Amino acid sequence: MTPDPAFRDDVLRGLRQQPPAVPARWLYDSQGSELFDEITRLPSYYPTRTETALLQEIMPEVAERVGQGRAVVEFGAGSLTKTPLLLEAIRPALYVPVDISGDYLRASAAELAAKLPGLPIHTVVANFSDAIALPPEASVLPKLGFFPGSTIGNFVPASATDLLRHFRAVLGTGALLLIGMDRVKPVERLIAAYDDPQGVTAAFNLNLLHRINRELGGTVPVDAFRHEARWNDVLSRVEMHLVATGDVAFDIAGEPFRLAAGSSIHTENSHKYGPRGGRMLLLAGGWTPLAEWTDPARDFAVVLAEAERERFAP
Ligand code: AVI
Repeated sequence: MTPDPAFRDDVLRGLRQQPPAVPARWLYDSQGSELFDEITRLPSYYPTRTETALLQEIMPEVAERVGQGRAVVEFGAGSLTKTPLLLEAIRPALYVPVDISGDYLRASAAELAAKLPGLPIHTVVANFSDAIALPPEASVLPKLGFFPGSTIGNFVPASATDLLRHFRAVLGTGALLLIGMDRVKPVERLIAAYDDPQGVTAAFNLNLLHRINRELGGTVPVDAFRHEARWNDVLSRVEMHLVATGDVAFDIAGEPFRLAAGSSIHTENSHKYGPRGGRMLLLAGGWTPLAEWTDPARDFAVVLAEAERERFAP
């Protein structure tokens, strides 16, 4: 297998910096994506089931506010549990899922088409952070962006703001955005969600080292690392780390690396937002919140926001 140059560059550059870090997107090879799927079904991982139940509950109200006949642009391939809730409720004129993995996107679009016959679907194979060419049919339709899953939390605030601005540029002034955001909650629950007793999240995190060995000819001693989930209160985020349990030395793509016992490779951030913080993030990204819903325990929020025309003052 020819190594992906972007993966190689990110790993080499990330491990040379202090503290070492690798961008979270590399967690999702086929094994990583399967493990993430398993995570979403774990009892301690509350976000997926909470957001799904919340979407189910609020859909009549969302439909009333959003109306029918829009082009729905989903950033990421549609989930077979969450996306039909929206599509059935608002009956869009067009559904445009955008995902970097063409195979995964086509498979998920085919399943959605079977579930919702008659729905026009146009898939776009692209990284949702990069340029997105919407199909010409979409140009005359009012748009709704859909970004569930609290994926926005995996971006540091500066990148999250850029991403929201990018969504605004793709969808245009006047568009709406329905977005899922995970809420701040007691640390024990957050840690349990990212360090489950079954060890699935640990396997998900450690798979990055296996992937480095598989794809970049690495000699990383995977057994000499352990998964750790940390709450960073100042930055309001759960961090995933791979901690070296002893002094380790290894090669990746012919380059030597050393890590001292107790030091770690930072692999993911999952930011959690309070109601005000979440609204400020959306506003900074060019989206004005119109409505906000949470589950009874206030664990998770779904926000509807609008790309209002930008005004100069005050
Ligand atoms: C994809 N993303 C929203 C997940 C999260 O909760 O931040 C990724 C994840 N990492 C470990 N568990 C779940």
